[in-house]
Amino acid sequence: MRGLSEKIAGIVPSATIEISNAAKRMAQEGIDVISLSIGEPDFDTPGHIRDACIDALRRGETHYAPSSGIPELKEAIAAKVARENGFAAAPEEVIVTCGAKDAIYEAMEAVLNPADEVIVLDPSWVSYEPCVRIAGGEVRHHPLDGETFQIDDSVLEAVTTRTRMIVVNSPSNPSGGVLSRESLRLVADICRDHDIIALSDEIYEKLVYGAEHVSLASIDGMADRTITVNGFSKAYAMTGWRIGYAVAPQRIVRQMEKVQQHTVSHPTTFAMYGAVAALSGDQGCVEQMRSEFERRRDYIVGALRDLGYATAPADGAFYAYVRVDGDDIEIARRWLREVHVAVTPGTAFHTPGWLRISYATSMEHLREAMDRIGRV
Ligand SMILES: Cc1ncc(COP(=O)(O)O)c(C=O)c1O
Repeated sequence: MRGLSEKIAGIVPSATIEISNAAKRMAQEGIDVISLSIGEPDFDTPGHIRDACIDALRRGETHYAPSSGIPELKEAIAAKVARENGFAAAPEEVIVTCGAKDAIYEAMEAVLNPADEVIVLDPSWVSYEPCVRIAGGEVRHHPLDGETFQIDDSVLEAVTTRTRMIVVNSPSNPSGGVLSRESLRLVADICRDHDIIALSDEIYEKLVYGAEHVSLASIDGMADRTITVNGFSKAYAMTGWRIGYAVAPQRIVRQMEKVQQHTVSHPTTFAMYGAVAALSGDQGCVEQMRSEFERRRDYIVGALRDLGYATAPADGAFYAYVRVDGDDIEIARRWLREVHVAVTPGTAFHTPGWLRISYATSMEHLREAMDRIGRV
Protein backbone atom coordinates (compact mmCIF):
# COMPACT_ATOMS: atom_id res chain seq x y z
CA MET A 1 0.00 0.00 0.00
CA ARG A 2 1.31 3.48 -0.80
CA GLY A 3 2.07 5.93 2.03
CA LEU A 4 -0.18 8.76 3.16
CA SER A 5 0.52 12.50 2.99
CA GLU A 6 3.98 13.24 4.40
CA LYS A 7 2.94 16.86 4.91
CA ILE A 8 0.21 15.82 7.34
CA ALA A 9 2.20 12.94 8.88
CA GLY A 10 4.84 15.49 9.94
CA ILE A 11 2.33 17.53 11.93
CA VAL A 12 2.04 16.59 15.59
CA PRO A 13 -1.34 16.53 17.33
CA SER A 14 -2.02 19.62 19.44
CA ALA A 15 -0.20 19.23 22.78
CA THR A 16 -2.88 21.26 24.52
CA ILE A 17 -5.50 18.73 23.47
CA GLU A 18 -3.31 15.79 24.54
CA ILE A 19 -2.93 17.10 28.08
CA SER A 20 -6.60 17.92 28.52
CA ASN A 21 -7.44 14.44 27.19
CA ALA A 22 -5.15 12.88 29.79
CA ALA A 23 -6.88 14.96 32.47
CA LYS A 24 -10.31 13.90 31.15
CA ARG A 25 -9.29 10.22 31.23
CA MET A 26 -8.22 10.57 34.87
CA ALA A 27 -11.51 12.33 35.71
CA GLN A 28 -13.42 9.45 34.07
CA GLU A 29 -11.53 7.07 36.35
CA GLY A 30 -12.98 9.01 39.28
CA ILE A 31 -9.83 11.03 40.10
CA ASP A 32 -10.52 14.59 41.27
CA VAL A 33 -8.51 16.42 38.58
CA ILE A 34 -8.44 20.21 38.35
CA SER A 35 -7.85 21.19 34.76
CA LEU A 36 -6.05 24.48 34.24
CA SER A 37 -5.28 23.53 30.65
CA ILE A 38 -8.57 24.78 29.25
CA GLY A 39 -8.70 27.32 26.41
CA GLU A 40 -12.35 28.31 26.67
CA PRO A 41 -14.46 30.50 28.94
CA ASP A 42 -16.26 28.53 31.64
CA PHE A 43 -19.40 30.64 31.07
CA ASP A 44 -22.40 29.71 28.92
CA THR A 45 -23.29 31.82 25.89
CA PRO A 46 -25.49 34.76 27.06
CA GLY A 47 -29.25 34.10 26.78
CA HIS A 48 -30.11 36.80 24.22
CA ILE A 49 -27.58 35.33 21.77
CA ARG A 50 -28.98 31.82 22.20
CA ASP A 51 -32.52 33.18 21.77
CA ALA A 52 -31.58 34.89 18.49
CA CYS A 53 -30.24 31.60 17.17
CA ILE A 54 -33.36 29.70 18.27
CA ASP A 55 -35.56 32.36 16.61
CA ALA A 56 -33.55 31.96 13.41
CA LEU A 57 -34.05 28.20 13.50
CA ARG A 58 -37.81 28.65 14.07
CA ARG A 59 -37.97 31.13 11.16
CA GLY A 60 -36.46 28.46 8.96
CA GLU A 61 -32.93 29.86 8.55
CA THR A 62 -31.77 26.35 7.85
CA HIS A 63 -30.63 26.74 4.25
CA TYR A 64 -27.35 27.46 2.50
CA ALA A 65 -26.15 31.04 2.94
CA PRO A 66 -23.74 33.20 0.89
CA SER A 67 -20.31 31.59 1.27
CA SER A 68 -18.65 34.62 2.86
CA GLY A 69 -21.45 34.86 5.47
CA ILE A 70 -24.90 36.44 5.80
CA PRO A 71 -24.95 40.15 4.82
CA GLU A 72 -26.36 41.22 8.24
CA LEU A 73 -23.34 39.75 10.02
CA LYS A 74 -20.76 41.12 7.57
CA GLU A 75 -22.31 44.58 7.95
CA ALA A 76 -22.31 44.28 11.76
CA ILE A 77 -18.63 43.24 11.70
CA ALA A 78 -17.64 46.12 9.40
CA ALA A 79 -19.47 48.56 11.71
CA LYS A 80 -17.83 47.03 14.80
CA VAL A 81 -14.36 47.35 13.31
CA ALA A 82 -14.93 51.03 12.46
CA ARG A 83 -16.41 51.69 15.93
CA GLU A 84 -13.91 49.77 18.05
CA ASN A 85 -10.75 48.98 16.13
CA GLY A 86 -9.91 52.28 14.50
CA PHE A 87 -9.93 51.32 10.83
CA ALA A 88 -12.54 51.29 8.12
CA ALA A 89 -13.69 48.16 6.28
CA ALA A 90 -16.47 47.55 3.78
CA PRO A 91 -18.64 44.41 4.15
CA GLU A 92 -16.84 43.09 1.03
CA GLU A 93 -13.65 43.10 3.10
CA VAL A 94 -15.17 40.74 5.67
CA ILE A 95 -15.42 36.95 5.56
CA VAL A 96 -17.27 35.00 8.25
CA THR A 97 -15.55 31.69 8.97
CA CYS A 98 -15.98 28.51 11.02
CA GLY A 99 -14.19 29.97 14.04
CA ALA A 100 -11.11 32.18 14.09
CA LYS A 101 -9.03 29.05 13.50
CA ASP A 102 -10.62 28.54 10.11
CA ALA A 103 -9.94 32.20 9.25
CA ILE A 104 -6.26 31.66 10.06
CA TYR A 105 -6.07 28.54 7.92
CA GLU A 106 -7.89 30.14 4.98
CA ALA A 107 -5.64 33.20 5.22
CA MET A 108 -2.56 30.99 4.89
CA GLU A 109 -4.06 29.17 1.90
CA ALA A 110 -5.02 32.49 0.33
CA VAL A 111 -1.60 34.12 0.63
CA LEU A 112 1.15 31.51 0.59
CA ASN A 113 2.96 29.87 -2.29
CA PRO A 114 5.18 26.80 -1.75
CA ALA A 115 8.28 27.62 0.35
CA ASP A 116 7.04 31.10 1.30
CA GLU A 117 8.10 31.87 4.86
CA VAL A 118 5.91 32.99 7.74
CA ILE A 119 7.43 34.58 10.85
CA VAL A 120 5.80 33.30 14.03
CA LEU A 121 6.70 34.99 17.32
CA ASP A 122 7.24 32.65 20.28
CA PRO A 123 5.64 31.74 22.57
CA SER A 124 3.09 31.07 19.86
CA TRP A 125 -0.34 29.50 19.84
CA VAL A 126 -0.28 25.84 18.80
CA SER A 127 -2.11 26.04 15.47
CA TYR A 128 -0.17 28.75 13.60
CA GLU A 129 2.64 26.45 12.50
CA PRO A 130 0.38 23.56 11.36
CA CYS A 131 -1.82 25.99 9.39
CA VAL A 132 1.25 27.38 7.60
CA ARG A 133 2.54 23.91 6.85
CA ILE A 134 -0.78 22.55 5.61
CA ALA A 135 -0.92 25.55 3.27
CA GLY A 136 2.55 24.61 1.94
CA GLY A 137 4.53 27.42 3.60
CA GLU A 138 7.47 27.28 5.99
CA VAL A 139 7.63 28.70 9.51
CA ARG A 140 10.43 30.80 10.93
CA HIS A 141 10.13 31.01 14.69
CA HIS A 142 11.46 34.10 16.40
CA PRO A 143 11.40 34.64 20.18
CA LEU A 144 9.72 37.61 21.80
CA ASP A 145 11.65 39.35 24.56
CA GLY A 146 11.44 36.84 27.46
CA GLU A 147 10.79 39.54 30.10
CA THR A 148 8.43 42.00 28.45
CA PHE A 149 6.95 39.71 25.77
CA GLN A 150 7.19 42.65 23.37
CA ILE A 151 8.70 42.79 19.88
CA ASP A 152 12.12 44.37 19.36
CA ASP A 153 14.48 45.05 16.42
CA SER A 154 15.83 41.50 16.57
CA VAL A 155 12.77 40.36 14.61
CA LEU A 156 14.54 41.70 11.52
CA GLU A 157 16.92 38.73 11.81
CA ALA A 158 14.00 36.48 10.87
CA VAL A 159 13.20 38.37 7.66
CA THR A 160 14.49 36.80 4.44
CA THR A 161 13.72 37.32 0.77
CA ARG A 162 11.15 34.52 1.12
CA THR A 163 9.22 36.11 4.01
CA ARG A 164 5.62 36.57 2.95
CA MET A 165 3.78 36.91 6.25
CA ILE A 166 4.22 37.68 9.94
CA VAL A 167 1.76 36.51 12.57
CA VAL A 168 1.07 38.66 15.63
CA ASN A 169 -1.25 37.65 18.45
CA SER A 170 -2.34 40.19 21.03
CA PRO A 171 -3.52 39.56 23.71
CA SER A 172 -1.49 36.39 23.51
CA ASN A 173 -2.29 32.78 24.02
CA PRO A 174 -0.22 31.51 25.87
CA SER A 175 1.65 34.43 27.48
CA GLY A 176 -1.26 36.73 28.33
CA GLY A 177 0.94 39.55 26.98
CA VAL A 178 -0.55 42.54 25.19
CA LEU A 179 1.57 44.09 22.43
CA SER A 180 2.30 47.79 22.87
CA ARG A 181 1.70 50.37 20.15
CA GLU A 182 5.52 50.58 19.78
CA SER A 183 5.79 46.84 19.14
CA LEU A 184 3.04 47.03 16.52
CA ARG A 185 4.67 50.08 14.88
CA LEU A 186 7.84 48.03 14.52
CA VAL A 187 5.88 45.25 12.83
CA ALA A 188 4.25 47.82 10.55
CA ASP A 189 7.63 49.27 9.53
CA ILE A 190 8.98 45.82 8.71
CA CYS A 191 5.88 44.88 6.74
CA ARG A 192 6.06 48.05 4.66
CA ASP A 193 9.84 47.89 4.11
CA HIS A 194 9.84 44.23 3.06
CA ASP A 195 6.42 43.94 1.43
CA ILE A 196 5.10 41.48 4.02
CA ILE A 197 1.46 40.73 4.88
CA ALA A 198 0.54 40.64 8.58
CA LEU A 199 -1.95 38.30 10.17
CA SER A 200 -3.15 39.88 13.41
CA ASP A 201 -4.99 37.41 15.64
CA GLU A 202 -7.10 39.56 17.98
CA ILE A 203 -9.45 36.87 19.31
CA TYR A 204 -8.76 37.92 22.94
CA GLU A 205 -9.15 41.68 22.31
CA LYS A 206 -11.98 42.08 24.84
CA LEU A 207 -10.05 40.37 27.63
CA VAL A 208 -7.56 43.03 28.72
CA TYR A 209 -6.86 44.12 32.28
CA GLY A 210 -5.62 47.67 32.42
CA ALA A 211 -3.73 47.37 29.14
CA GLU A 212 -4.78 48.97 25.85
CA HIS A 213 -5.65 46.71 22.93
CA VAL A 214 -4.40 48.19 19.65
CA SER A 215 -5.39 46.75 16.27
CA LEU A 216 -2.46 46.42 13.90
CA ALA A 217 -4.66 47.50 10.98
CA SER A 218 -5.28 50.86 12.69
CA ILE A 219 -1.60 51.77 12.29
CA ASP A 220 -0.79 53.98 9.31
CA GLY A 221 -0.80 52.12 6.02
CA MET A 222 -1.44 48.71 7.60
CA ALA A 223 -5.13 48.22 6.73
CA ASP A 224 -4.02 47.45 3.20
CA ARG A 225 -1.69 44.64 4.24
CA THR A 226 -3.25 43.20 7.39
CA ILE A 227 -5.58 40.24 7.82
CA THR A 228 -7.33 40.91 11.12
CA VAL A 229 -8.67 37.69 12.63
CA ASN A 230 -11.29 37.73 15.33
CA GLY A 231 -14.31 35.77 16.48
CA PHE A 232 -16.98 35.13 19.07
CA SER A 233 -15.51 32.21 21.04
CA LYS A 234 -13.71 34.10 23.78
CA ALA A 235 -15.55 37.43 24.13
CA TYR A 236 -19.06 35.96 24.05
CA ALA A 237 -18.35 32.43 25.36
CA MET A 238 -19.34 30.93 22.00
CA THR A 239 -16.60 28.33 21.46
CA GLY A 240 -18.95 25.59 20.25
CA TRP A 241 -20.72 27.82 17.74
CA ARG A 242 -17.69 27.92 15.45
CA ILE A 243 -18.11 31.49 14.21
CA GLY A 244 -15.09 33.68 13.53
CA TYR A 245 -14.13 36.19 10.89
CA ALA A 246 -11.35 37.94 9.04
CA VAL A 247 -11.22 41.52 7.84
CA ALA A 248 -8.71 42.06 5.05
CA PRO A 249 -8.20 43.81 1.71
CA GLN A 250 -10.69 42.54 -0.83
CA ARG A 251 -8.01 40.84 -2.94
CA ILE A 252 -7.24 38.56 0.02
CA VAL A 253 -10.87 38.06 1.10
CA ARG A 254 -11.75 36.90 -2.44
CA GLN A 255 -9.01 34.27 -2.27
CA MET A 256 -10.18 33.11 1.17
CA GLU A 257 -13.74 32.91 -0.11
CA LYS A 258 -12.63 30.44 -2.78
CA VAL A 259 -11.07 28.19 -0.13
CA GLN A 260 -14.24 28.44 1.96
CA GLN A 261 -16.62 27.84 -0.97
CA HIS A 262 -14.89 24.63 -1.95
CA THR A 263 -14.38 23.23 1.54
CA VAL A 264 -16.91 24.11 4.26
CA SER A 265 -19.21 26.32 2.06
CA HIS A 266 -19.91 28.69 4.99
CA PRO A 267 -20.47 28.65 8.76
CA THR A 268 -23.80 27.30 10.03
CA THR A 269 -26.58 29.64 8.91
CA PHE A 270 -28.60 29.93 12.13
CA ALA A 271 -25.44 30.26 14.24
CA MET A 272 -24.55 33.38 12.23
CA TYR A 273 -27.82 34.99 13.38
CA GLY A 274 -26.70 34.41 16.98
CA ALA A 275 -23.45 36.22 16.16
CA VAL A 276 -25.43 39.21 14.80
CA ALA A 277 -27.22 39.41 18.17
CA ALA A 278 -23.87 39.21 19.97
CA LEU A 279 -22.54 42.27 18.13
CA SER A 280 -25.73 44.30 18.08
CA GLY A 281 -26.98 43.50 21.61
CA ASP A 282 -26.04 44.86 25.01
CA GLN A 283 -22.30 44.43 25.65
CA GLY A 284 -22.78 44.22 29.43
CA CYS A 285 -22.29 40.43 29.29
CA VAL A 286 -18.79 40.90 27.83
CA GLU A 287 -17.80 43.26 30.64
CA GLN A 288 -19.24 40.90 33.26
CA MET A 289 -17.09 38.03 32.01
CA ARG A 290 -14.03 40.28 31.58
CA SER A 291 -14.24 41.58 35.14
CA GLU A 292 -14.60 38.06 36.53
CA PHE A 293 -11.50 37.00 34.57
CA GLU A 294 -9.67 40.03 35.96
CA ARG A 295 -10.58 39.04 39.54
CA ARG A 296 -9.20 35.55 38.90
CA ARG A 297 -6.11 36.96 37.18
CA ASP A 298 -5.35 39.10 40.23
CA TYR A 299 -5.75 36.11 42.52
CA ILE A 300 -3.71 33.60 40.51
CA VAL A 301 -0.80 35.90 39.70
CA GLY A 302 -0.59 36.85 43.39
CA ALA A 303 -0.82 33.22 44.54
CA LEU A 304 1.85 32.09 42.07
CA ARG A 305 4.18 34.88 43.16
CA ASP A 306 3.61 33.91 46.81
CA LEU A 307 4.70 30.40 45.84
CA GLY A 308 7.89 31.86 44.33
CA TYR A 309 7.00 31.63 40.64
CA ALA A 310 7.71 34.43 38.16
CA THR A 311 5.02 35.06 35.55
CA ALA A 312 4.91 36.86 32.24
CA PRO A 313 2.93 40.14 32.33
CA ALA A 314 -0.63 38.75 32.56
CA ASP A 315 -2.35 41.74 30.94
CA GLY A 316 -4.82 39.88 28.77
CA ALA A 317 -6.54 36.63 27.67
CA PHE A 318 -7.06 34.12 30.52
CA TYR A 319 -3.63 32.57 30.94
CA ALA A 320 -0.79 33.00 33.41
CA TYR A 321 2.54 32.04 31.85
CA VAL A 322 4.83 30.76 34.55
CA ARG A 323 8.59 30.31 34.46
CA VAL A 324 9.80 26.98 35.88
CA ASP A 325 13.20 25.52 36.70
CA GLY A 326 13.72 22.31 34.78
CA ASP A 327 11.90 20.33 32.12
CA ASP A 328 8.42 21.84 31.69
CA ILE A 329 6.94 18.62 30.27
CA GLU A 330 8.23 16.61 33.24
CA ILE A 331 6.92 19.22 35.68
CA ALA A 332 3.47 19.26 34.03
CA ARG A 333 3.38 15.45 34.17
CA ARG A 334 4.40 15.50 37.81
CA TRP A 335 1.72 18.03 38.77
CA LEU A 336 -0.88 15.89 37.03
CA ARG A 337 0.37 12.64 38.55
CA GLU A 338 1.05 13.83 42.09
CA VAL A 339 -1.54 16.53 42.82
CA HIS A 340 -3.94 16.06 39.89
CA VAL A 341 -3.58 19.54 38.44
CA ALA A 342 -3.42 19.74 34.63
CA VAL A 343 -1.45 22.58 33.01
CA THR A 344 0.17 22.94 29.59
CA PRO A 345 3.95 22.80 29.13
CA GLY A 346 5.55 25.79 27.36
CA THR A 347 7.20 23.38 24.91
CA ALA A 348 3.79 23.21 23.18
CA PHE A 349 4.24 26.91 22.42
CA HIS A 350 7.91 26.64 21.38
CA THR A 351 9.19 28.01 24.70
CA PRO A 352 10.46 25.24 26.99
CA GLY A 353 10.87 26.26 30.63
CA TRP A 354 7.38 27.71 31.01
CA LEU A 355 3.93 26.43 31.96
CA ARG A 356 0.62 27.86 30.80
CA ILE A 357 -2.01 28.03 33.52
CA SER A 358 -5.53 28.82 32.35
CA TYR A 359 -7.75 30.70 34.78
CA ALA A 360 -10.91 30.02 32.80
CA THR A 361 -12.29 28.10 35.75
CA SER A 362 -13.99 28.96 39.03
CA MET A 363 -12.24 30.74 41.92
CA GLU A 364 -12.95 27.67 44.04
CA HIS A 365 -10.98 25.47 41.61
CA LEU A 366 -8.20 28.04 41.33
CA ARG A 367 -7.78 28.24 45.12
CA GLU A 368 -7.73 24.45 45.46
CA ALA A 369 -5.26 24.17 42.55
CA MET A 370 -2.90 26.71 44.12
CA ASP A 371 -3.03 24.81 47.44
CA ARG A 372 -2.13 21.61 45.61
CA ILE A 373 0.68 23.20 43.61
CA GLY A 374 2.07 24.59 46.86
CA ARG A 375 2.38 20.98 48.07
CA VAL A 376 4.62 19.69 45.22
C1 LIG B 1 -4.81 32.69 19.89
C2 LIG B 1 -6.00 31.96 19.39
N1 LIG B 1 -6.40 32.17 18.13
C3 LIG B 1 -7.47 31.53 17.61
C4 LIG B 1 -8.18 30.63 18.36
C5 LIG B 1 -9.35 29.92 17.71
O1 LIG B 1 -10.56 30.44 18.12
P1 LIG B 1 -11.93 29.86 17.51
O2 LIG B 1 -12.58 29.09 18.61
O3 LIG B 1 -12.71 31.07 17.14
O4 LIG B 1 -11.59 29.04 16.33
C6 LIG B 1 -7.80 30.36 19.67
C7 LIG B 1 -8.53 29.35 20.47
O5 LIG B 1 -8.06 28.79 21.41
C8 LIG B 1 -6.70 31.05 20.21
O6 LIG B 1 -6.30 30.84 21.47
